Amino acid sequence: MLSIVVLISGGGSNLRALLDAAQDAEFPARVVVVGADRDAEGFEHAEEFGVPTFSVAMSNFADRDAWGDALLEQVRLWQPDLVVLSGFMKLLPPRVVAALSPNLINTHPAYLPEFPGAHAVRDAMQAGVTETGASVIIVDNGVDTGPIISQERIPIHPGDTEEHLHERIKPVERRLLIQAVLDIANGVVELGLHSRR
Ligand code: GRF
Repeated sequence: MLSIVVLISGGGSNLRALLDAAQDAEFPARVVVVGADRDAEGFEHAEEFGVPTFSVAMSNFADRDAWGDALLEQVRLWQPDLVVLSGFMKLLPPRVVAALSPNLINTHPAYLPEFPGAHAVRDAMQAGVTETGASVIIVDNGVDTGPIISQERIPIHPGDTEEHLHERIKPVERRLLIQAVLDIANGVVELGLHSRR
């Protein structure tokens, strides 16, 4: 059974999808704790499923490294096989990435390497392209530059708003994330899970 720590910042719809999937006794992964960089709205999903939560706010620390170390300490308490960044809107310090990667994955609302960064949906619309996408990647020290695990194209419709487009992207992100977790748990995607434990 793959144990997962999920880190969020917002509503946690991807987290919710993982929690739902893990209700199935056959699903080979469990979310053991949900962490955030704030008192995230998405904690309510964890609470509903009886999964513990923690938050480590950057404002309580002198600098990003000190914050990252505190976050890493919390994550390590749970000895996860995998850490999933799911709408986690802070960049992790390099030493935290080094400590967790490659067992550290992220979902992104664009077809990487197109439109990296925090405003991927808006950037795709402003670029005037006719399609964007969703990706699941291994996190490295760049901004959305890590190896791609899976991705899918999504058309941009005439008259789309950023909000509407993002609402169409999110279900694809959820599906890709759940499939990626399944593939990692089943050894179809090899992250080096066993070499790091
Ligand atoms: C997702 O599109 C994620 O990729 C992006 O922010 C959104 C988070 O959604 N970075 P949620 O918090 O899982 O609902």
